[in-house]
Amino acid sequence: MSNLIGNPPVIDSARLWQALMDLARIGATARGGVRRLALTDEDRQARDLFVQWCRSAGCSISIDAVGNIFARRPGHNDALPAIMAGSHLDTQPSGGKFDGAYGVMAGLEVVRALNDVGVQTEAPIEIVAWTNEEGTRFAPSMMGSLTYAGLAPLAQTYASTDSEGKSMLAELERIGYKGEGCGGRAIAAYFEAHIEQGPVLEEEGKTIGVVLGGQGQFWYDVVLVGQDAHAGTTPMRRRHDALVGAASVVQAVNRIGRDTLRSCATVGHMRVEPNSRNVVPGRVSFTIEVRHPDDEQRLAMDAAVRRAVQEAAHANGLEVELQRILDQPATPFDADCVFAVRRAAEQRGFSHMDIVSGAAHDAIAMARIVPTAMIFVPCAGGVSHNEAESASPGDLAAGCQVLLDAIVRKAAG
Ligand code: HGY
Ligand code: MN
Ligand code: MN
Repeated sequence: MSNLIGNPPVIDSARLWQALMDLARIGATARGGVRRLALTDEDRQARDLFVQWCRSAGCSISIDAVGNIFARRPGHNDALPAIMAGSHLDTQPSGGKFDGAYGVMAGLEVVRALNDVGVQTEAPIEIVAWTNEEGTRFAPSMMGSLTYAGLAPLAQTYASTDSEGKSMLAELERIGYKGEGCGGRAIAAYFEAHIEQGPVLEEEGKTIGVVLGGQGQFWYDVVLVGQDAHAGTTPMRRRHDALVGAASVVQAVNRIGRDTLRSCATVGHMRVEPNSRNVVPGRVSFTIEVRHPDDEQRLAMDAAVRRAVQEAAHANGLEVELQRILDQPATPFDADCVFAVRRAAEQRGFSHMDIVSGAAHDAIAMARIVPTAMIFVPCAGGVSHNEAESASPGDLAAGCQVLLDAIVRKAAG
């Protein structure tokens, strides 16, 4: 076992890249991206392929009540808690080939590389594909890992519906991925490899991001209610225009983000009703999200957002429905797991730097229940949640090698 730590197997870069390219064909878009929304037929196809690959690699498969997929490679001592690695297979509507997919394929590559040399770790290894990390079809994000970690009630997860009124539960059953039980697997540590989705590693010329933790975030659903009215006969002073109110909230949210150092603030989705060119909009539904690495600042942003919504509603004679649907604190990762990542990068001679994650990940949920750390690799231009998302085979391989080395060390029992 000690020689495994001192001389861990080398991952197969070409095989990792091929797995990513084969997976990216499922939901491939004309502009080179991937559209694989949670629990759609494309998601099911990706899940089926992942399960097939894991079974071919000698893993046993279990599916939990929210469709999380666990592929288990037994250890010498199977009674030991497992070392887990993974990420998500679902994507944004115009997503890329690597967000989520990389962490799942890197986990699979770790298993394949260990199989190549016929080595069994002391502790078992589990690769996981979490359900609905993106939160775009069903909100909020990280639904599979939050439910697994006991941070979201199963009934609430099941009841979540998409824009067509289809529920998570019905869609899990429809694609055949509603299993039993959720949570409670014996896990000693969780690692997640992911593209950074920001510009820092590329700007600093670093191959590996040693992720110290993730920033916090709030997600809101907002509805402003005014009055549908004739665009040609309703005097400006008599209008209750919900879109004018929403527009001033959009500007205010952007200003809150720009005025708060190190923060992000975004309105990403909006529905205007009745959405007719000659009707003053009487109802506008939209989302707001704010993020900050410091929870006090994040709370101050929450107060500023609520003020901005109320002011806009008052100025335009609108009713407000505001619901905060996600409250995620800033989350530090486990010092020992972070050290395992940093040491692996050093021993492999990969350039590296400490970094805090701007994006949310399933690791943020897992960090609340088990020792957790992440490994970042650069993506071109820091672009992600975009069909142009790209990363180099060399960086992806380096991150995967660090993942293997960290897992092997942790799985030594
Ligand atoms: O929203 C996020 O940060 C993640 O990419 N779903
Ligand atoms: Mn992701
Ligand atoms: Mn994402």
